[in-house]
Amino acid sequence: MTDVPAATEDKNQSLTVRDNRTGSEYDVPIVDGAIQAADLGKIRTDEDTPGIAVYDPGFVNTASCRSAVTFIDGEKGILEYRGYPIEQLAEKSNFLEVNYLLIHGELPTKEQYDNWVHEITYHTFVHENVKTFMQGFRYDAHPMGMLMASVGALSTFYPDARNISDPDNRHMQIVRMIAKMPTLGAWSFRHAQGKPYIYPDNELGYTANFLSMLFKMSEKKFEADERLVKALDVLFILHADHEQNCSTNAVRSVGSSQVDPYSAVAAGVGALYGPLHGGANEAVLRMLRRIGSKENIPSFIEGVKNGNEKLMGFGHRVYKNYDPRARIIKKSAEDVFEVTGTNPLLDIALELEKIALEDDYFVSRKLYPNVDFYSGLIYEAFQFPPEMFTVLFAIGRTPGWLAQWLELVQDKEQKIARPKQIYTGDRQLEFVPASERWK
Ligand code: SDX
Repeated sequence: MTDVPAATEDKNQSLTVRDNRTGSEYDVPIVDGAIQAADLGKIRTDEDTPGIAVYDPGFVNTASCRSAVTFIDGEKGILEYRGYPIEQLAEKSNFLEVNYLLIHGELPTKEQYDNWVHEITYHTFVHENVKTFMQGFRYDAHPMGMLMASVGALSTFYPDARNISDPDNRHMQIVRMIAKMPTLGAWSFRHAQGKPYIYPDNELGYTANFLSMLFKMSEKKFEADERLVKALDVLFILHADHEQNCSTNAVRSVGSSQVDPYSAVAAGVGALYGPLHGGANEAVLRMLRRIGSKENIPSFIEGVKNGNEKLMGFGHRVYKNYDPRARIIKKSAEDVFEVTGTNPLLDIALELEKIALEDDYFVSRKLYPNVDFYSGLIYEAFQFPPEMFTVLFAIGRTPGWLAQWLELVQDKEQKIARPKQIYTGDRQLEFVPASERWK
């Protein structure tokens, strides 16, 4: 847990704000590079007028919490989970160990790791009624809609999850959600394919088991190519957390009402579904397919500059440099294409990236490839349909959502999320009943 530092006595670590409406001056302490919005709320013209609020659509410059889970330096392209650089974790760790690190805040001992893997391996099954529930979706239901609904439905199978103040209960729900997300994700895929649902195989590792539930047919035992298992495991690591992104903000906001973690994570799945967030990897593939060939790239780029198109997979709220995950993913793409053969869309993507990195429109707006630009190409090489790409993102992001939720419910500074607004509507209108209005 991060301790709340006392406001500094150092006069230099403060703002002196002069309210020209009243001539009053206020000293506003600066702590960790931020001021308390509550201090601005004290600036008012009289007792009957509300204090100064901060207007910040999309929370572009608003800190909602103190967190020790993930550190990002957007200018330098740095990403660290619990202080460990993403490059080292991607190269030397594995997804379940990174799960443990994010949730517990430190790397596991061998015994802790073995127990963690055992617990997750033996919680991959879901209640048979969940399967029946999922079979009720239309044949062409989007897997993300199925995943969002199924995660929320788990809250009805584990009603004790509402007891969020009990550490052992929290641990159990976290293990269940990490363990069951691949099962729900794979079954959403099988449903869309019209194939029978495959049950977890507890003799396989976490990522290999996910591939088995996705692709196993009549063979006795699913055999995944180790290079594909490794590449997918790295992709899960790269997606595991990303500080206060849109979906994590949703998990924290819904979680701030003290609802169970399944309902909070279902909200995160919903936020991730959007094309500006996790849905971007699916949108990248659709964009590349629409471009169709390298010859069409210049006219597409013109469309972006005219505001008629967005270059999906480019740009980021925080990274104003290359997304460090994109670099690592490019390497994984080479490993995957070794097995699957290259992807014709990759040639278009590489040419698009080359042009964009040299074009002032993108350079001036600091628009670089983000994690979604290449992940979609790898998922395509795995022969996932684009609708599944964001489900893969959600499986990777689950430990991050849960680590952030866990931090939220233990943070004594946190309270229910309820922002202010700037009201722009009518006031004090006289209501005329319909019988008179419609004469
Ligand atoms: C993820 O937050 C996270 O951490 C997210 C994520 C995670 O791990 O959780 O990293 C995962 O969501 C990555 C982002 C995936 N989304 C996309 O690739 C969709 C395309 N990208 C954009 O929609 C956009 O870049 C955002 C949403 C990612 C960021 O938008 P911001 O920070 O709100 O920036 P902005 O929209 O204000 O853009 C600034 C300028 C604008 O130009 P002007 O209007 O000032 O002239 O850049 C332009 C935008 O129009 N711009 C783009 C663009 N992204 C921004 N122009 C063309 N193509 C783009 N992709």
